Amino acid sequence: MNKAKRSAVIAGNWKMNKTPSEAKALIEEMKPLVKDAGCDVVLCVPFIDVPAAVEAAKGSNIKIGAENVHFKASGAYTGEISAEMLTEAGVEYVVIGHSERRTYFGETDQTVNLRTLAALNAGLKAIVCVGETLEQRELGYTETLLKFQTKMALTNVTKEQLKNVIIAYEPVWAIGTGVTATADQADEGNGFVRAAVAEVYGEEAAQALTVQYGGSMNAGNAEELLAKENVDGGLIGGASLKAPDFAAIVAAASK
Ligand code: PGA
Repeated sequence: MNKAKRSAVIAGNWKMNKTPSEAKALIEEMKPLVKDAGCDVVLCVPFIDVPAAVEAAKGSNIKIGAENVHFKASGAYTGEISAEMLTEAGVEYVVIGHSERRTYFGETDQTVNLRTLAALNAGLKAIVCVGETLEQRELGYTETLLKFQTKMALTNVTKEQLKNVIIAYEPVWAIGTGVTATADQADEGNGFVRAAVAEVYGEEAAQALTVQYGGSMNAGNAEELLAKENVDGGLIGGASLKAPDFAAIVAAASK
C-alpha cells in the first residue's frame, strides 16, 4: 500500500476557541466550502461546543472530534470527560497527547497510552500527537523521541484497533509559531512514526496508517506538505478557525 491508498484526513483542532454559538456559525460557513472534499474532514472542538457542533454538522461530510478524553469509564475525576460521554454525544474522533496537554497539563506517555486505549475501546478514532522540542531536535534525538512516543502511545493497542488510530507528527517548535517544518522535515518525521509502527505491527499495517503533519500548516503551505509520500493529512490549529483557510487546506488534500 502507498500514499494513494491511505485515507487522507484533515482535522481542525480549535483548542480553547469558539463559544457554542460561534462554533455553529463557523461550521455553517464551512459546510458548503468542504462538501466536495476528497479527504476526510474532522473538526475537534472544545467539549462544551460538542452538542452545537454535532447538530450543525448533521447531514454534512464534517465529522466532530473532541480534544481530550479521560481514561477511566466513570468515577471521582472532577472536570474530566469519559469516552462514553463523547460517543453518546456524537463525537467520532478525539485528539490525544497534544503537546499543549503534555506541556501545560502534565500529560505523559503513559497517560497518552491510557487515553488512547480508552478511546479505542469505546469505538472512537484516536488522533495521537507526537513531536520533538527544538532542543531535542538540535541534540539529534528526533528519530529516537518520535519512535519512543509512538510506541509508548500504542502499548497494548491491537493490530485491529490500529485501524482506528491516526498519528499526528507535530514538532513542538512549529505549533502556533508560524514556523512550519519544511516539507522534507515533515516527511522525515512522519516516516519515523511509520517506521516505529512497522517495527511493532509490521510493514503492511504501517503502510495503511494515516500519519498527519501538524504545526503552522496553512492555506499557503498545505499543498507542498501534503504532496509528500508520508504526509497523509494535517492537524490544523490556527488555520482551522477561518473557514476559507481551512477549506483551502481540505482542497489541497483532495488533489
Ligand atoms: P497550529 O496548531 O496549526 O496553530 O500550529 C497545530 C496544532 O496544535 O494541532
